[in-house]
Amino acid sequence: MPDKTVYVTRRIPQPGIDKLKEVFEIDHYDSDDAIPHQVLVEALKAKKYDALLCMLTDQIDAEVLDAAGPQLKIVATMSVGFEHINLQECNKRGYLVANTPGVSTDSVAELTCSLLLMTARRLPEGVDAVKNGEWGLWKPMWLCGTQLNNRVLGIYGLGRIGFNVGRRLKPFGFSKIYYTDVHEVSYAKDLDAEFTDFEGLLTKCDFICVCCNLTPQTRHMFNRDTFKKMKNTAILVNSGRGGVINHDDLVDALRSGEIQACGLDVTEPEPLPKEHPLVSMNNCVILPHMGSNTWDSRNAMACIAARNCIAGVSGQTPEGNISTNAS
Ligand code: DGY
Repeated sequence: MPDKTVYVTRRIPQPGIDKLKEVFEIDHYDSDDAIPHQVLVEALKAKKYDALLCMLTDQIDAEVLDAAGPQLKIVATMSVGFEHINLQECNKRGYLVANTPGVSTDSVAELTCSLLLMTARRLPEGVDAVKNGEWGLWKPMWLCGTQLNNRVLGIYGLGRIGFNVGRRLKPFGFSKIYYTDVHEVSYAKDLDAEFTDFEGLLTKCDFICVCCNLTPQTRHMFNRDTFKKMKNTAILVNSGRGGVINHDDLVDALRSGEIQACGLDVTEPEPLPKEHPLVSMNNCVILPHMGSNTWDSRNAMACIAARNCIAGVSGQTPEGNISTNAS
């Protein structure tokens, strides 16, 4: 009979549950939808847990952590992103924090490349045209998009995902690949990618893929001022976090032609209301944050989150330890 307890804030794939069962008695919020904040607080007050397995939609703030109590060992999020967790408050209480790095790299990189192609080649407009009966006889200047070959690719954030986006896109024949990150990385040479400052990325690139985390430093990095510096023909793709782009400024930049088009898998807020001006713009392709939506990734994410919970209550360092990232 397991003597440890875990609270899971959502229904998760079965492989993760099976793993947790090896060590924990499991309570979970039995829904596919996000747990309301107050319901989570009350659940954690009502019973004491050794581990908390949460999602990126759960705000793990001081109120939640107070409710969890001092016996809690670990907060394990089933996501790569961890901006929803107050790391300082976790550190203060001595809780480990862990994410799920690596296992969604391929799925997110695949989707980022798909989104870039969808946006550059105006695929959603083509699909709509067929469905709406607007497809007439072949026209020489209809739905013409932008080719990738001989253009300049920029990657904002050359971590695991950024690198794997570059690796997949390189064979399309870009004339140059630039990247911007906190510092230069040695593996950039495998892409023949050159480090540039942010200004250089904005001014030199035809395509920019945003593949970074949301931090105070990256928040609204793409805004009115930076759009002005980008090429009018530039195509921006974001599969990192919505908050990296100021969406009001993006609407203006797309309307005025300051940049050509944008593909978003992440938005601010999420979900983006269907009345939001970006939703009805032809030069903006929006997906509902589905970068890691493959069974391979989701099963693996559930498993690594479960293993992190087990490590946390066994005195081991979890695979995705981010506890030391607190500042
Ligand atoms: C993550 O893991 O942070 C992704 O955004 C979820 O797909």
